Amino acid sequence: MKEKTQAIKTELEQRFAAGGCATSKELAELKMQYLGKGGKISELSKGMREVPAEQRPEAGRLLSELRAWAEEAFAAREAELKRAELAAKVASERIDVTMPAKYFRGGSVHPVTLVRRELEEIFSGMGFHIYEGPEIERDYYNFQALNIPADHPARDMQDTFFVGGEFLLRSQTSSGQIRVMEKQKPPIKVLSPGRVYRSDSDATHSPMFHQMEGLVVDKGITLCDLKGILDEFARRMFTAETKTRFRPSYFPFTEPSVEVDLSCKNCGGKGCRICKGTGWIEVLGAGIVNRRVLENCGIDPDVYTGFAFGIGLERIAMIKYGIGDIRLLFENDVRFLRQFGD
Ligand code: DAH
Repeated sequence: MKEKTQAIKTELEQRFAAGGCATSKELAELKMQYLGKGGKISELSKGMREVPAEQRPEAGRLLSELRAWAEEAFAAREAELKRAELAAKVASERIDVTMPAKYFRGGSVHPVTLVRRELEEIFSGMGFHIYEGPEIERDYYNFQALNIPADHPARDMQDTFFVGGEFLLRSQTSSGQIRVMEKQKPPIKVLSPGRVYRSDSDATHSPMFHQMEGLVVDKGITLCDLKGILDEFARRMFTAETKTRFRPSYFPFTEPSVEVDLSCKNCGGKGCRICKGTGWIEVLGAGIVNRRVLENCGIDPDVYTGFAFGIGLERIAMIKYGIGDIRLLFENDVRFLRQFGD
């Protein structure tokens, strides 16, 4: 027995020393071969039966010594391998923090949103509050209360989407005027931005676009106040040299009504392709609030007067950024949108 146990010990020592069992898997296999059920050490135990009785205690001691030694030797080797494998894993997964980062391009603010924000900033700086009305609107707010009764020819100015019954997709943010004046009494200074809808589609018209309505009502408001505020808007939105020009026009909800032009920033008023040679670009409609509109909202037109204006945001964006076709604003081609904002 002594020789046999010694032989196994030597065998194992050689296996460990020769750099064998480079992986935990190899080590586990070797362990099975020696300490497993049918393994060499277990086989030796089975052979105890043939050992003469008087030698048995000695053989048993040798055998259990061998088993204890082998278990310890395997455990030590196992621990050693685990440490080496962990070190290799850590080394292979090392992160190089000096590597250049992957660059993800963020989105950019849509030009119409840029214009809306800029307008809100300009007008809130002049004391305007923001009011946002509903996009699905009653005929009353979109037309009737604005002095456009049913069957009035002025309805043809706006090709409206009717939703059913008295409801429609608002064709102008002017509806916001009525909603504000119903709730609030003068002094009123409000700005109402939002989407509007019309059955219209070509290079300069889109079935959905954005407007911003302005309304000021107080005692003694005149067309001069309107001109002053719009002059300031033109200078802040475009350049300090930008001028405004009022031309007589017609809107049912204002009297008198004006069409407002800005001097062309491209040619400085000399006339070019953008302003079609006139030196002026039409940007918005405005006027003194019609007495009937004030009356409809329970405001006495003999005490109060007001002005209103309606700006098309796409129109401002197209002028400001030199965009020739309104549809570019809604195609959402990132190569186009990327050019604006940050
Ligand atoms: N709502 C008009 C439109 O969509 C624009 C407008 C003109 C608004 C004159 C006004 C205004 O408030 O006074 O064409």
